[in-house]
Parts: sequence; C-alpha cells; structure tokens
Amino acid sequence: MSDQFNTLKARTERVLCSTYGRYPLGVARAEGCRLTDFEGREYVDLLAGIAVCNLGHCRPELARVMAEQAQKLVHVSNLFYQEEQVEFAEALTSAMGLDKVFLCNSGAEANEAAIKLARRYMRTVKQRDAYEVVTLEGSFHGRTLATLTATGQGKVKEHFQPLPEGFVTVPWDDPAALDDAVTGKTAAVLVELVQGEGGVRPMSTEYVAAVERICRDKDVLLMVDEIQTGMGRTGNFMAYQHYGVSPDIVTLAKGLANGLPMGAMVTTDEVAGGFAPGAHATTFGGGGVVSAVALEVLRIIQDDKLVQRTRTEGQYFLGKLHDLVDEFPDTLEEARGVGLMLGLVFREPAGWAWQALLAHGFVANCTQERVLRFLPPLILPREDIDATIDALRDILSA
Ligand SMILES: Cc1ncc(COP(=O)(O)O)c(C=O)c1O
Repeated sequence: MSDQFNTLKARTERVLCSTYGRYPLGVARAEGCRLTDFEGREYVDLLAGIAVCNLGHCRPELARVMAEQAQKLVHVSNLFYQEEQVEFAEALTSAMGLDKVFLCNSGAEANEAAIKLARRYMRTVKQRDAYEVVTLEGSFHGRTLATLTATGQGKVKEHFQPLPEGFVTVPWDDPAALDDAVTGKTAAVLVELVQGEGGVRPMSTEYVAAVERICRDKDVLLMVDEIQTGMGRTGNFMAYQHYGVSPDIVTLAKGLANGLPMGAMVTTDEVAGGFAPGAHATTFGGGGVVSAVALEVLRIIQDDKLVQRTRTEGQYFLGKLHDLVDEFPDTLEEARGVGLMLGLVFREPAGWAWQALLAHGFVANCTQERVLRFLPPLILPREDIDATIDALRDILSA
C-alpha cells in the first residue's frame, strides 16, 4: 500500500463514521469501466459503484449536461414548476408504461415513499384500514427504520429496536405462506424480482405469477423494488418485464442518474390518488442537475441499445461462469443471475475470492458470504469479460 493510501485510510477512519467495511483500495479517478488507484494502477470495474454507473464512469455526455445545467438551474425546491423534472418524468413513465413519479434522492427514500403511498391509498382512496406491508426473506429494501424493517434479513435490524409496526416477512418462493400472510390488514406486497444483496437470486416465473395473483385476488398493491434491477441491468428495461407482471408501484434509484443521487417511486394514476399536496415531500428530490442527467441517461440507454446489449453480453458472461462451475465443481456450487446482474456461488465463504480478484486487478463484491457478485457497467467490453474469466480460472486453480 502506498503512503498516500495509508494516509487517506487513517484520515477516513478519524473523521468518517465507521459504517462500511471498505476495500483496501483508494480510487483516485475513474473512467469508462476502469478505476485508477493512487499509484496509477488500473482495475476493471465489475461493480459499477454497486449497480449505479451503468453507462461507465465520468461519461463525457453526462459531464456536459451536468456542467450546462449547473449554470442554468440547480435548485429552487419543489415549490416551483421545473421543466427538467417534467421531461424526465415523462420519458420514464412512457418507458415503464406507468403514469406518475415521485422523485427523491435514494433507494431507501423511494421505498419509504412507496410504503407511505400504499398506506395512504388504502385509507384515503379504498377507505380500508389496511397498512401492513408483506416482504420476503432474503430481501433488502434499505437502511431507514421502515425499510430495514421491511428488509428480510435479521442482521440489518440488530440493536435498532423498537422497529416500526406493520411489516410481515414470509419465506421465499412459498406461495402458500404469502397467501396466509396477506390479510385484511395488508396494504401491499413488496418484492425484489431478483434479490441483489440476498445473493443474486432470481424468482421463478411461477412464484412471481402467484404473487401477482394473490395481490389481485385480495386487492392489495403489488410493489416491485427495482432499485438494483431497474434501468436495463437485467437485460430488460425493468425486471418485471421478464415476468410479464404489472406492478402498481415500482421503486428505482441506483442507475437513474449514473452516480448522482436520485430515487424515484413510479405508480399508476389510480394509486397516485393516495397522495395529496402536503402528504409527502423532500427538499432535494428532482433537482435540475439530477433530472437533466437522468434524462440524458435514458436517451443513451435507448440510443445505444444498452438493454439488448446487456441481454447478450449477460448471457455470454453467465455461460462462461457456468463453464467455471463445471471445471471447479468442488469449489463452486452454481452460477446464476439475469443480464449483467450475476453471481458465482461458492461452496464455502468466498471472501478470499474477491480479494484475490482485486489483487489481479478486478473489482467485484461478495454478498451473503458465498456469492461473488458482478454488477459491471452495462457497457463492459467483451474482452473484459474474457479477462475476468481468465483471472477467475487462475485464482480457482491456485
Ligand atoms: C434492492 C434494493 N433496494 C433498496 C436499496 C437501498 O438503496 P439506497 O442505498 O440508495 O438507499 C438497495 C441498495 O443496495 C437495493 O439493492
């Protein structure tokens, strides 16, 4: 480690709250699919800031939009009408086949908005005292008190009790358990169609169909958390398009503005009727710069046909990961995922594997102890996929 890195690490530990287990890597700059450390060493970025920089780092078109908008209008608050946020909301709703957007600043905030809307819609539009939100084991929905309560993983809740009421978690892939849990008190079912933090676990088509059927039969809202899966990541613009379901509420964040903080809760006209002026708000949501950048992100995704590209490159990458599983059956259990949201599941804890990959010059991530997770920029060149597979083969053979 360089002196510069060691000094940065010490200063970080002195002044920033210790909430992250950080990589032994200081990033001095980033461009496209490469990160550069303080010694000038380059790394292939297979994480994209955890599924955020989908178009690659420091994209010139986005830098230009950012700079232009910074000289035109940055922030006036949501007390005023602003063209940038309307243009983005129009483009996003038309791409998703939904009607209305609430713009905010993060994934947790988008899920908070969804939970609040579900409760308020039930009470004010449906005139039902239904407030519970049913979620799935293994899910991850954020770190605010409501969203960590919704999250189906015990570790995020430790020492934060008392937790808010009105959340029920049911086992994964068990339609009968979900059916039992959805009662007259239920406002909504909230699911990730491919669990990200939960270990890159795609739901089966049958289960998703059952979830939608239960929601429709019992007249509760189907809310899909696409914070990690949305914006082309899975090889469809939204993961719900793989499953042919029609959610009532969809939450987005991560890839929306390619690295600027933005969240969105997207819904139908009917359900949006649950909100009224004063019911919910955020100071920064939908500001000029993030909205202008997010509109440009949508344009690039469409013009560069990134959704289709993600599908083909994701299939190629997954095929290569399957080959590794066949080659190293004693170490690897399976390869899974959709599009460029992929996981290589080890039989034993795999912390050593991401560290070995890092030493080879590749940045990936380990989740649920045994799952090496790949969430690269959607523009990742094929040569980088091949180089990643070669590096993995080296590491697994060693
Ligand atoms: C599926 C999902 N939901 C919600 C969140 C929370 O988003 P944020 O960290 O922007 O609050 C995340 C973040 O990893 C996520 O993956």
